[in-house]
Amino acid sequence: MVFASPLSDPGIVPNPYPVYADLAKNNPVHWCEGLDAWAVMRYEDCAAAMKDSRLKADRMEEVLQAKFEGRAVRPDNIYHQFTKNVMMYTDPPVHDALRRSTAPGFTRAAHEFYSDVIKKVATDLVASIPTKQTEIDAVADLALEMPYRASVHAFGVPEEDLDFIVPRVNILMTYWSGTLEQPVSFDSLLENLTDLHTYSLELVQGKRGKVLPDTVIARLAASQETNVDSTLEQTIHQLVLLLIALYAPTTPGSLSSGMKAFAENPEQIELFRTDQACADNVGNEVVRYNASNQFTWRLADTSIEIGGVKIDKGQCVALFLGAANRDPSVFERPNEFDLSRSNSGKHLSFGVGLHSCLGRQIATLQLKWFYNALFSRYSKIGLAGDPVWNTNLEFRSLKSLPLVLG
Ligand code: HEM
Repeated sequence: MVFASPLSDPGIVPNPYPVYADLAKNNPVHWCEGLDAWAVMRYEDCAAAMKDSRLKADRMEEVLQAKFEGRAVRPDNIYHQFTKNVMMYTDPPVHDALRRSTAPGFTRAAHEFYSDVIKKVATDLVASIPTKQTEIDAVADLALEMPYRASVHAFGVPEEDLDFIVPRVNILMTYWSGTLEQPVSFDSLLENLTDLHTYSLELVQGKRGKVLPDTVIARLAASQETNVDSTLEQTIHQLVLLLIALYAPTTPGSLSSGMKAFAENPEQIELFRTDQACADNVGNEVVRYNASNQFTWRLADTSIEIGGVKIDKGQCVALFLGAANRDPSVFERPNEFDLSRSNSGKHLSFGVGLHSCLGRQIATLQLKWFYNALFSRYSKIGLAGDPVWNTNLEFRSLKSLPLVLG
């Protein structure tokens, strides 16, 4: 009898961890029909797979066929242009040159500037909660708002353009991370991708809203003249990729799942407020405890073995980072949220190796300064109602989190 994987059941999203633990023990590498991929559950296998050059990131033609069977698009179509021109879906040597081309936006000095800016954004955001208000929806009021503001002040997205960009990213995310049955037509996806491409070109040409100085986009635009690692078209496509990453559910998902974890473990708030080393560990432990990107993908370029299971050339693997982060062979008491944990930093939530997250430091700065601002103002937060999860396991995030503030 074929094993029916529970991983594509949206019912597991609120708490996938018992399911993961069972699979890691009994079916650590198994075929998941609903994902059309091999699901890999253990830390060691996931970490090794992300460093294995036989597993490719270039897989978007296969995704297209899995989601819109028989749909062919010409090589000069925006779909192929985009996916072949961005670091996320390419392999060395193209990947490395594309990633290098963004380096001026992600230097140490640049991050010091972003840190100051993000600190102010977080302080202002928490200060904006009216004194008399003791209940909030922490997703709408804080977790979604924080990355919007950081994207304007640290990344340089013009505030007046958010209404144009965000709805388009939301539509694209249904394809980039949604189920095999797509809610949106392929033509509509192409239209939205084209819109963001045209927008990014106009932004770099100075025809859209104002980009604030010293931000990521300002630095990337200033380096374009001396940039030998990517063409203008590649720069524009990578800007589209950054916009998608900025407004994806990852950052709000981590901010809100962290608030939920604190609300359910009030002693950790006390620890955060009294122990600097624990406060400094917040960015790591929050994303270890709940990865907002629960799994990532690769395509086997040749026949390989993972955990003793044979994967055929051309098959996809889904690497369950969220399961790896709860692997008891790496993390003691993995199901406890504990800021004093000594190895939280070993989490895989931002990936490892060549494709590890370019925005990791910026995302971590948002977490750090946000919880600092929150727990400077409030010494207690508690659940004021039932949290509601979105149904997407891949980008697992809360839809609503009613909180009482004290
Ligand atoms: C908490 C927030 C975030 C999480 C959990 C997250 C997670 C990840 C993960 C797991 C990967 C690796 C995927 C793989 O190896 O297949 C990745 C890659 C990437 N992330 Fe993030 N991310 C976050 C925020 C951001 C932000 C704010 C940006 C904006 C700059 C960003 C930009 C990227 C890019 C460009 C890549 C591709 C890197 C490459 O392929 O070389 N991420 N992210």
